[in-house]
Amino acid sequence: MYILGIESSCDETAASIIKADPKTGRIQVLSNIISSQIEIHKKYGGVVPEVAAREHVLNILPVINESLIKAKITPDSLDLIGVTRGPGLITSLITGVETVRTLAFAWNKPVIEVNHIDGHIHANFIDPASKINYPALIMTVSGGHTNLVKMDKTGKIKILGETRDDAAGEAYDKGAKMMGLGYPGGPIIAQYAEKYQLDQKRNPQKTDKRELPINLPRPMINSVDLDFSFSGLKTALLYQLQKDKNWRERLPEYCYEYQRAIIDLLISKTIKAARKIKARTVMLSGGVSANNELRARMTETVARQLPGVNFLVPAKGYTTDNATMIAVAAFYQIKRQKPTDFSRMRVDASLQLK
Ligand code: KG4
Ligand code: ZN
Repeated sequence: MYILGIESSCDETAASIIKADPKTGRIQVLSNIISSQIEIHKKYGGVVPEVAAREHVLNILPVINESLIKAKITPDSLDLIGVTRGPGLITSLITGVETVRTLAFAWNKPVIEVNHIDGHIHANFIDPASKINYPALIMTVSGGHTNLVKMDKTGKIKILGETRDDAAGEAYDKGAKMMGLGYPGGPIIAQYAEKYQLDQKRNPQKTDKRELPINLPRPMINSVDLDFSFSGLKTALLYQLQKDKNWRERLPEYCYEYQRAIIDLLISKTIKAARKIKARTVMLSGGVSANNELRARMTETVARQLPGVNFLVPAKGYTTDNATMIAVAAFYQIKRQKPTDFSRMRVDASLQLK
């Protein structure tokens, strides 16, 4: 099957073509085109929905065209189109869905509407070498979502835990904004934290006695549920910065401590959830899973604390928003359900995972 995936839920306009074998499940990525608007939104310190929507309108057809050229196929060869229906920014989603409605009509192709989070989950299904054993536990950590999900071998999912306030990526982005570091905050905080770690390795230094110790909380880390909370951590960072007149000189240390708190929370609840459901595979997904420290610590912790459980994380290019994950999710969905009638397609900005 040749499947075209389209993603436009936030600030990336993306189109991808995969070749998927329904018998073996093997996936070949023929093209993965992403037009990112990060440079445009950077100057505003975050995504401006109206600007994002206009950019999607300008980019979507060239991006789709490029995905076809790169894959060396014409629209006649397509068997299915998958498109993100939600959650996301409403005007951004509309561009993707309305474009697909038109193409499905013009090309006479079946359509599958995909939940963006389900797309992130399926980024782990791209690599043919990945061996997934069930029940599997997936933690999706992105700019808008932090979810712990159980998946059984039929593909049925159950939400085990989620954030009660900010998402993990949002904690990175808001923390970075507070420290005047720009957007998106995740990769910048990660870079400063790495610098601090390297400096400490080369030249270990204790915090100067005159300096304020950086003590950040781990909200809800010991709660019995599998939910997360990051807003208290963000506020604690703000109070620390306000109290410390030297915080600018200690930026790498602040980034290191803040990142460590976020990652401690993510790892602790993932291990707890994996034990609870007796998971046989643990997977990470979403933009925050691009983080080297999270990838390394999760690999190490799963190996140490969950013997016999394998750990998967998508290749870096498939952690942040892309359309390959949407095409793959559509491939798995079409095995279980009929395509959507294109006249009935509807965006849903707050679409829930089910
Ligand atoms: O999945 P994604 O591209 O978009 C959403 O669905 O939200 O995730 C974007 C989020 C942003 O919050 C960004 O700061 C974070 O992922 N992110 C990272 C890294 N790269 C992106 N967070 C931590 N470390 C990174 N290396
Ligand atoms: Zn995303």
